Amino acid sequence: MKKLILMNPGPVNVTDKVRDAQLKGDLCHREPEFSDLMGSIRKKLLQAFEIEQEYSAILITGSGTAAMEMAISSCLSPNRSILIIQNGVYGERISKMADVYKMDKHLLSYNWGETLKIAEIEQILKQNASIEVIAMVHHETTTGLLNPLPKVALLAKQYDKRLVVDCISSLGGDTINFKQYPIDFVVGTANKCIHGLPGVSFVLHRKMDFPRIKDIPSRSVYLDLIEHLKAQEIGDSLFTPAVQAHYALDTALDELLEETVCGRIKRYRKVAGNLREGFKEIGLEFLIPEDQQSNCLTALKISNGISYDWLHDKLKENGFIIYAGQGLFNRKIFRIANMGNIQDEEFALCLKILKECFAKA
Ligand SMILES: Cc1ncc(COP(=O)(O)O)c(C=O)c1O
Repeated sequence: MKKLILMNPGPVNVTDKVRDAQLKGDLCHREPEFSDLMGSIRKKLLQAFEIEQEYSAILITGSGTAAMEMAISSCLSPNRSILIIQNGVYGERISKMADVYKMDKHLLSYNWGETLKIAEIEQILKQNASIEVIAMVHHETTTGLLNPLPKVALLAKQYDKRLVVDCISSLGGDTINFKQYPIDFVVGTANKCIHGLPGVSFVLHRKMDFPRIKDIPSRSVYLDLIEHLKAQEIGDSLFTPAVQAHYALDTALDELLEETVCGRIKRYRKVAGNLREGFKEIGLEFLIPEDQQSNCLTALKISNGISYDWLHDKLKENGFIIYAGQGLFNRKIFRIANMGNIQDEEFALCLKILKECFAKA
């Protein structure tokens, strides 16, 4: 297949080394080699984010949603409630999870792309002592908006609430200051800013919170975080894992450790900045104000009577995959992510083709 440059927000282009790692050989997950592989990934994740003392990594075979659902289904004590803050598709998905598990839920719902109102979050915390957990999305990939995680985390600390954050599209690409504002459950996946392949995701859980959750009655068989943690601590895997995706993730983490998380975030920020300068030169309009955008994705309004499908197909003919708007933004915006192993000249070529498309229109 012809190489495609994936400017969608995951799965991302990976290096040859990560792709080739899948071919390391067939392996039974009950053998010590798999225990070592799992142990290596769990250790490297914590090393990369410099949280070895404070966190445990729990792996799950599945996409990011599986890891998110593992965190949500395992985080809330009986007879307590969860506050969900939503302003996009992925916040709404958390809310659906809470409904499926019949959790007592408080919902702070904002329009897609709207900034969270910290005073409103504080008010709801003040009024509802039953709230035990706050759940939110860091980078809402629906719009490219980076939600104000430090402010919510400070509130969580002040009001002694546990915090679950979907960092699926920000971990490794945008700053998360684990030391300044501890998050109890950080949810991530292999195939976005970590530069691995689809099939394995994870939760980074704050060890201090373990005594609280260890006796919460299980709400799921496959997604029971405590059971996965207990098994992984002794080198076991509860179910059949995506072995080859684990090989790829281990290699991707070597590359992340070499680049460092700070280095990668800096590079993403620079690349996103260059792309955004290019978008402005073309005359494209941002959906989200520049100072609220993540480092990882830009949502652009579709203008000049151009149809998304035409734009998508023109770019695809030239080897680039862009991403449509979801739901109410369908056909109104398009999204360009800058995650993964993409070279500067490939970003420059994408801008050139976009410019030609809009000039033609
Ligand atoms: C913020 C966020 N959360 C959750 C998901 C769902 O991840 P997955 O499709 O891997 O289940 C995505 C996917 O793009 C995402 O961007």
